[in-house]
This record gives sequence, C-alpha cells and structure tokens, in this order.
Amino acid sequence: MTKVFETNGEAETKALASRLAQLVKSGMTILLEGELGAGKTTFTKGFAEGLGIERIIKSPTYTLIREYTQGRLPLYHMDLYRLENTGAEEMGLDEYFDGEGICIVEWGSVVEEELPQNHLLIQMDTSLIDINQRTLTISAVGEAYEKVLKELEDERKD
Ligand SMILES: Nc1ncnc2c1ncn2[C@@H]1O[C@H](COP(=O)(O)OP(=O)(O)OP(=O)(O)O)[C@@H](O)[C@H]1O
Ligand SMILES: [Mg+2]
Repeated sequence: MTKVFETNGEAETKALASRLAQLVKSGMTILLEGELGAGKTTFTKGFAEGLGIERIIKSPTYTLIREYTQGRLPLYHMDLYRLENTGAEEMGLDEYFDGEGICIVEWGSVVEEELPQNHLLIQMDTSLIDINQRTLTISAVGEAYEKVLKELEDERKD
C-alpha cells in the first residue's frame, strides 16, 4: 500500500511526522529515504515531538544511533550514511530492530539485508519548482503498517 503526501515547508513535514508518531505501535520501523537535504532529519524531529520527546534531535551522522527514552515509546534514531566501512553486525542493529522502541532509519539502504521485512518506507523528494515543497511517498509493508498508513490518510480527509 502506498500513499503520497505533499508538504510545504519544514513545519508541515514536522506536523505530518508528529501525527504519524501518535499512530505507531511498539516495535515498528520507519525507513527514510531521500537525497541530502530532503528532510529526513526534519521529519525525525517532528516524529520525536509527536512521541513526546522534548530534547532536540541532532543528526546522528557521527554517532550512527541515538536513543531517546523520555517519550511514549523509546525512539532509536539511526543515520547509517557512514556505516559502510564499519559493518552492520558489530553495530548490533538487530537488537534495536527487535526491541520495543521505534526505529527510524536514515540511509537504511546501506544495510538492506538487515532491515526488518515489515516496515514503513518514506521516500522524500524535493521539487524543482518550489524549494519548500516535499513529496513524501509512504509505502507500508505488513498488515500492522498498512493500518497505520490508512489511519494517517484518514486523518488528512477530516
Ligand atoms: N517541506 C519541507 N520539509 C522538510 N524540510 C524542508 C521543507 N522545506 C524546506 N526544508 C528545509 O530542507 C532542509 C532539510 O534538511 P534535513 O537535515 O532535514 O535533511 P536530511 O534529509 O536529513 O539530509 P541529510 O541526508 O544530509 O541528513 C532543512 O533546512 C529544512 O528547513
Ligand atoms: Mg539527516
């Protein structure tokens, strides 16, 4: 199942992410794809706010994984852009994917085989015409994820 969302400006992307954060269930994984500057970290900030995490999220490019435990569910924010030389196994990514928290993954494609089979995949694309416009193409794999995506879509119609 795939649904397409358009946002205009950082605030709208954060608001969409925040709404999604209120719908996700324990143990879910969200994969964020999109070029540099597409808005993956911006999305994650809004998502964290939606979980009730107040501490500002920096891009974890140099730490790979940051954990936040003060929200409704634990949040594991991974940015795997620099993982290639490190190797996924030493990182113990499975423990995060199998845990109770929500994994939100930037540049997950570098460890494609290690990613959970069921997930929400969010492809973020910029626009050539409007610098503040983003297209978020959200695909749900697995029944639980389809339910969440449907709820996100239904809220939009209200
Ligand atoms: N509709 C929008 N949604 C999200 N960000 C937007 C939007 N319009 C403009 N922006 C701007 O685009 C930039 C997105 O940066 P961000 O760090 O979130 O990207 P990223 O995908 O995480 O990049 P990187 O791959 O380098 O980590 C921010 O400066 C943000 O203000
Ligand atoms: Mg980023």
